[in-house]
Amino acid sequence: MIPFDAIPRDQLPALLRTAPKAELHIHIEGSLEPELIFKLAQRNGVKLDYPSVEALRAAYAFTDLQSFLDIYYAGASVLLKEEDFFDMAWAYFERAAADNIVRAELFFDPQTHTARGVDIGVVIRGLHHACQRAHQELGISADLILCFLRHLSEEDALATLEAALPYRQYFIGVGLDSSERDHPPEKFARVFAKCRALGLRLVAHAGEEGPPAYVTSALDVLKVERIDHGVRSLEDPELVKRLAKERVPLTVCPLSNVKLCVFKDLSQHNLPALLDAGLAAMLNSDDPAYFGGYLNENLVQTFEALPQLGPRQAYQVLRNSFEASFVPDERKQAWIAQLDRAFAEAAG
Ligand code: HPA
Ligand code: ZN
Repeated sequence: MIPFDAIPRDQLPALLRTAPKAELHIHIEGSLEPELIFKLAQRNGVKLDYPSVEALRAAYAFTDLQSFLDIYYAGASVLLKEEDFFDMAWAYFERAAADNIVRAELFFDPQTHTARGVDIGVVIRGLHHACQRAHQELGISADLILCFLRHLSEEDALATLEAALPYRQYFIGVGLDSSERDHPPEKFARVFAKCRALGLRLVAHAGEEGPPAYVTSALDVLKVERIDHGVRSLEDPELVKRLAKERVPLTVCPLSNVKLCVFKDLSQHNLPALLDAGLAAMLNSDDPAYFGGYLNENLVQTFEALPQLGPRQAYQVLRNSFEASFVPDERKQAWIAQLDRAFAEAAG
């Protein structure tokens, strides 16, 4: 047993930063920093609607999910070649290494690129090479999760899956993202059933802006293994009981939630209530280039804003990140042993 009470609260930020951790909810297109957007625009001869890096960054004032997605899809328009996808993911991995991320599961949105005429193979090969190099050079274990855009039709998702199948060995699972309101998980029942039959791991965004009923249908209809966000689950006590009993992981993204006005500020975030209810929540950065912080910033700022969260909860969310990751059990246990050592050392 780790004596959490022996860890001084003022040591918590340093411990959160240096402890090993997994990131399971990062949209790689959301890691595209304005500087890299401009560099790629120039390299590829793409015209941007903003005159400068500063002007683009100044436009990052969002009122809801859709207001963010409009700018996020515009930013991704500079990605055309395999090396562009590589450079974007490599920039993320360098930051991830600095945050002591040892496991990363990266979402990517192929439809955002194929709709612009970019071949899906270009997207997947570029990202896959960055994952391989992250493992070799940075010691980060990384895999890709292909996301379907829920504002598009299920036919489009099925066609995307078909186009991705020649690259089946380069992604471990599928997810569901983009505009949640009015696009319930049920809309994608057939494509998720197909993915399940193919042995792909399944996740979906639900209960970010959408109602708790979308969390329930993501579990019951799509049969997902993790819920991305899921913060609105707390509105349904029966659902909370189920999520706790089944230990369904929630990939919570606090800075994203504040930027997209799901919560007024970090001190209003419901992470303490989620953990108190016994839910398997962990923290993630979602779209760090747009939301003002990578994983360590999410951890440090959230624990700073919520005094009810201490070393015990810090350990719990980091441990949850490993338990919820899509890797063999022995691998999880090795990382959890490292985590235990970091906390035991901090306890003195
Ligand atoms: N929600 C839904 N779709 C997304 C998000 C998100 O937070 N980030 C990128 N695509
Ligand atoms: Zn997301």
